[in-house]
Amino acid sequence: MKTQICIIGGGPSGLLLSQLLHLKGIDTILLERHSREYVLSRIRAGVLEHGFAALMREAQCGDRMDREGEIHEGFFIAHDGRLDRIDLHKYSGGNSVIVYGQTELTRDLYEARERMKGNVIHNVEDVHLNDLASDAPYVTYRDGDAIIRIDCDYIVGADGFHGVSRKAIPKDVLREYERIYPFGWLGVLSRTKPVSPELIYSKHERGFALCSLRSQILSRYYIQVPLEDSVEDWPDHAFWAELQRRLPDEVAGRLETGPAIEKSIAPLRSFVAEPMCYKRLFLAGDAAHIVPPTGARGLNSAASDIYYLYHGLVDHYRNGDDARLDGYSDRALARVWKAQRFSWWMTTLLHRFPANSPYENKLQETDLQYLFSSELAKGSLAENYVGLPF
Ligand code: APR
Ligand code: PHB
Repeated sequence: MKTQICIIGGGPSGLLLSQLLHLKGIDTILLERHSREYVLSRIRAGVLEHGFAALMREAQCGDRMDREGEIHEGFFIAHDGRLDRIDLHKYSGGNSVIVYGQTELTRDLYEARERMKGNVIHNVEDVHLNDLASDAPYVTYRDGDAIIRIDCDYIVGADGFHGVSRKAIPKDVLREYERIYPFGWLGVLSRTKPVSPELIYSKHERGFALCSLRSQILSRYYIQVPLEDSVEDWPDHAFWAELQRRLPDEVAGRLETGPAIEKSIAPLRSFVAEPMCYKRLFLAGDAAHIVPPTGARGLNSAASDIYYLYHGLVDHYRNGDDARLDGYSDRALARVWKAQRFSWWMTTLLHRFPANSPYENKLQETDLQYLFSSELAKGSLAENYVGLPF
């Protein structure tokens, strides 16, 4: 087979890029290791920046997002038994975010790819990237007993943190930066009315908690748990009791509980691989960087990579201009690192760090007090949360 761009990974990054390129007449083949049903069964993030939403509309995938997604102009931070609101709209100069689940967004992208007869191949095994340093790279995968070869101009590695693309870059070229946090998030999805119409991030001496939502009948809650814990340690009643303890009384009192439809634990990690390209391979999304979910940046950082890569590839094919493609890694990384900084800061501000000294705990409390005493500090939080410009 032959194509212009071979995309590895059918998560939001790969699908969005393939859809955007298709609309500009650029041919792609997308390879995904799992079935579509499997990809759509993963419950992930749910907060979209307006820049991401604009890209979804440009990809002709924004209709359902605009109909069913909720515009949020603020969120709450709970601390010391009270709720303080961050007015995103006021402090970011009129911006907001859209609450729309990654699962729904991925479904919309798959449907669009299908509608436009995009070449999306599922259940591929043993994907290999070959001859990356040459002008004629190719990708192979196994389909049963057959080895299939795809010749292409460029390869895009959008295959997530555990994918093969990043590993295809020689070790002496790639530099990796990492921070592992000493806790995870236990997440529960439940068919209950959300406790608050806007998100509540809660800092509590027992640990962090987050009240989020997917719709007015579907709630998503998280609590910080030790890394050693497993889902079996947290039957539903224990989860709800612990969540209640970490919320202000007035909020805990109106928490509606119910059976968990989904329950999982995710460790918190910060990770960046540099550069985000090697010869004819470009990395995008989780394949190149991971953030802890506290600042809701993961999916949004993937979207900004796609924005830069999309424009670079369009310039290349349409105008014969390689400046943006050559500058892809530098431009993407500049924004990626700002998302890293913000996610690290939000995580540090709101979680309980078991090994912290009393001095560090005092600094953490002061950071929060400063935030609520300063219009500029609230402005900085809001500017980052709604998304820095591409
Ligand atoms: N071959 C083909 N596909 C692969 C391979 C492989 N060797 N390895 C992984 N994949 C697929 C995975 O099955 C997955 O569907 O690549 C896809 C990567 O998708 P994501 O992990 O969702 O990564 P990305 O598309 O970059 O999405 C950005 O933002 O909210 C965050 O982490 C969250 O998934 C989210 C991410
Ligand atoms: C979610 O709804 O899953 C969610 C929302 C905000 C975050 C992280 C996760 O910061």
